Amino acid sequence: MTYTLTTPLYYVNDKPHLGSAYTTLACDALARYQRLKGQTVLFITGCDEHGQKIQRTAEAAGLSPQAHCDAVSEQYRQLWQSWQISNDRLIRTTDPRHRHIVEQFFARVEANGDIVEGRQQGWYCVACEEFKDDPHEAQDPECPIHRRPLEWRDELNLFFRLSRYQQAIEALIAREGFIQPASRRREVENFVKQGLRDFSISRINLPWGIPVPGHEGHTFYVWFDALLGYLTALLEPGEEADLDTAITRGWPAAVHVIGKDILRFHAVYWPAMLLSAGLDLPQQVFGHGFLTREGQKMGKSLGNVLDPAELLQRCGRDAVRWYLLRDIPFGDDGDFQQQRFIDLVNNDLANTIGNLLNRTSSMARRWFSEAVPPAGTAAGTEHPLAQAAEGARQQALEGLDGLDFRSAAEAALQLAISANGYLNDQAPWSKMKQPDSCEQVAADLYAVLEAARIVALLLAPLLPDLSGRMLTQLGQPVPCSTAASAEAQPAAPAALPWLERLAWGGLEAGAALPEPSPVMARLELDSPL
Ligand code: MSP
Repeated sequence: MTYTLTTPLYYVNDKPHLGSAYTTLACDALARYQRLKGQTVLFITGCDEHGQKIQRTAEAAGLSPQAHCDAVSEQYRQLWQSWQISNDRLIRTTDPRHRHIVEQFFARVEANGDIVEGRQQGWYCVACEEFKDDPHEAQDPECPIHRRPLEWRDELNLFFRLSRYQQAIEALIAREGFIQPASRRREVENFVKQGLRDFSISRINLPWGIPVPGHEGHTFYVWFDALLGYLTALLEPGEEADLDTAITRGWPAAVHVIGKDILRFHAVYWPAMLLSAGLDLPQQVFGHGFLTREGQKMGKSLGNVLDPAELLQRCGRDAVRWYLLRDIPFGDDGDFQQQRFIDLVNNDLANTIGNLLNRTSSMARRWFSEAVPPAGTAAGTEHPLAQAAEGARQQALEGLDGLDFRSAAEAALQLAISANGYLNDQAPWSKMKQPDSCEQVAADLYAVLEAARIVALLLAPLLPDLSGRMLTQLGQPVPCSTAASAEAQPAAPAALPWLERLAWGGLEAGAALPEPSPVMARLELDSPL
């Protein structure tokens, strides 16, 4: 069965910032992990290109909406490429095939009696593309998120009969594991408990949208159209737009990874739409937290957004991925602090992990003919580092299964710390000077190299670059399943599956150890990001 995972489809009103890159990086780690486990993966990301917000942004820039969308979605495409994101799809909701999928889906929902006409009155935030319930201020209300004036709307729209799905949605959100992390479930439960109201799915007088078949003057509300992008994205490149075909390509999704602000759309509206169309429901919706910067919400108005392209260029992929995945519990809000970022990268990656490999490999080469020394007493799984490796393996797999990237990263790091500690305790540089200690030194170095090999493998989904450099330095094959769209990369030499390679004892005594070079440079930033 295909493991389908999605990022949100990003609005193309502005160029990408680190908030959007955050979700995509986390999904990339998850996609790589699932591939490493041998799953067939369909990793979907994309751009949400219709609606009033986009139309207005394009107008302000003096561009046609299509030209504007082409330009910004190209920036997204390039960004994901430069970050080596392993997405299989990048769906754009202006793809002509998407229009057909939306039409087919709508026909099912309408045939099911779930579309009615109604009057929509209320305060609307264009930046959220959402009606706001009961704003606090009676006069000139503002959007609490964007701090911009809300706009009063009063129009005849088409409504989706969400109210019919009250019981089904209550049962769904009560299902263990559907909304993750569990702490987010409560807010959705409260919303649903108030009673689900039908929601409008069309707009009138909004040309930048997909026309609603049979309802002249109406275009689809951007969220109705956007969510269906997940289905269009299932189609293979160039495949005809047929909903029945699309859902055979990897539906239902295993997980929709989103920010906490759009949980309601994914955990309530979307499942009801799918039920109405007779389609299966996604297995999980994971709502992660927001990134702030030095304690303040990242936003254009504050001028404190971090540009992921600049970050990549100045700091490199490994550094940024490590900081975001290792320091911020996925699900909670997280604060980007430059000094902490530098410290973590240098301590964890350059000092602890990088040096471990470098110094051990240098000693092994020097004293054991540039090769892996014989394992001797380190061959057995009762060796303390074998035990530590087994603990790290279990913690990392459990963490990755639950999208707890921090726990997985800590498992790898902890193993490296244990191996460094072991090396310092055994002090092979002193032992080597004593007679008859060669066997013991060999076993010690074997154990530490073997631990470094397992650290590298555990890092494969999180930091594929560093992991690859470490494995190469150990003379080990780099798993090809970490590669973006596998066919784009040359196949690695035959190796055991990743899960099996995590077992203790994979290094072969006598195998050549390539000449070491630093696997991780220290991060030095001479000016603020
Ligand atoms: N277009 C909709 C999603 C449609 S999905 C069918 C949308 N787009 S968005 O570009 O505004 O936001 C995309 C995602 O980025 C959201 O999940 C949002 O939570 C996330 N983030 C935007 N700013 C963020 C931070 N500062 N930190 C973390 N994530 C944030 O909503």
